[in-house]
Amino acid sequence: MSVPFYSKVGVVGAGTMGNGIVQVFATHGTEVLMLDSNPKALEGGLGAIEKSLGRLIKKEKISEEEARAIVGRISTGTDLSALSDQALVIEAVVERADVKATIFETLDSITPQSTILATNTSSISITEIAASTNRPDRVIGMHFMNPVPLMKLVEVIRGQATSAETTAAVVACSEAIGKVPVEANDYPGFVSNRVLMPMINEAVFCLMEGVATREGIDTVMKLGMAHPMGPLTLADLIGLDVCLDIMEVLHDGLGDSKYRPCPLLRRMVAAGQLGRKTGKGFYEYE
Ligand code: CAA
Repeated sequence: MSVPFYSKVGVVGAGTMGNGIVQVFATHGTEVLMLDSNPKALEGGLGAIEKSLGRLIKKEKISEEEARAIVGRISTGTDLSALSDQALVIEAVVERADVKATIFETLDSITPQSTILATNTSSISITEIAASTNRPDRVIGMHFMNPVPLMKLVEVIRGQATSAETTAAVVACSEAIGKVPVEANDYPGFVSNRVLMPMINEAVFCLMEGVATREGIDTVMKLGMAHPMGPLTLADLIGLDVCLDIMEVLHDGLGDSKYRPCPLLRRMVAAGQLGRKTGKGFYEYE
C-alpha cells in the first residue's frame, strides 16, 4: 500500500508557528521532524507543544496517553541535511525574504525532486520564494493561523508557477490534519492579512487619535462584531513587529496610501513594545 504523503513531514523553524504546525501533524498520526539551527529554540518548541497538549488534556480534548503518543511522533534536529525522504517540508522561520531564499535553495538541493516545499509565510511572495528553487511548480504557501492547534484555517497560496497537482495535494493534506483549506492567489497579504491587518492598523489609529481607550476599542469589536478578541489584544498576540512588517508589505506591494502603517504602531515597535512576547504591547503581560 502506498503511504499517504503526509505520513512523514519536516518542519523548519521551532518558533510559535513552527511548533504549532508540528503539533497538529503529530496529532494526526504523522511522523514529524522539527528542525531549527538553534538548539534552544528546539527546546522551547517542544516545551510549547507540551504546554499546549497539557491545556488540551485539561479541557478533556485528548487523553494523557494520546499526548504521549503525539510527542513520541516528534523528532528534532539542527541541520537541514537530516531531511531525507519527507514528501512535504514546511518552512516556518523568521519573516525575512533573504533567510527564506537561502533555506529554500538548500531544501531544493537536499530533498528529492518530488518533495513539496511549503512556506508558512504570512506575507512574503510565494512566487519570489519559489524562484530560489528549481521546482517552482512544487513550491506553495501553507499559511496557518495562530494559535495553530486551535485555528481551523489554512490559507493555501499558489505562486505564479505552482502546479494544480501541488495545490490539490496540499489541500488534501490540510483536510487530513483537520483544517479547512482556502485557496488564494499570490498577491500581497493574500486574503487573511489583506483584510485583518488594515483593521488592526485602523484600531491603532483610533487609539492614537483618542477615539476611545484600548479596552473600549477592543470591547466594540468583541461585543459589537462578535470577534473572539479585540484587535489590539490580537495585535499583541500576533506581535506588533509582525503587524508592522505586514502593513509595509501591503503598502509597498499595492501602492495605496490606505495601507500606510499607523505612526503609533511604528513608535511602539521602535520602543521594543512588541506585545505578549516582550511582556508589553497595548497591554501588559507577566
Ligand atoms: N495551544 C496553544 N495555545 C492555546 C491553546 C492551545 N491548546 N489553548 C489556548 N491557547 C492560548 C491563547 O492564546 C491564550 O493564551 P493565555 O492563556 O496564555 O493568555 C489562551 O491560550 C486563551 O485560552 P482560553 O482557553 O482562555 O481561550 P479559548 O481557548 O477560548 O480561545 C482563542 C482562544 C482560540 C485564541 C480565541 O481567543 C481566538 O480565536 N482568538 C482570535 C485568534 C486569531 O484571530 N488568530 C489569527 C491571528 S492572525 C494569524 O495568525 C495570521 C498572521 O499571518 C498574522
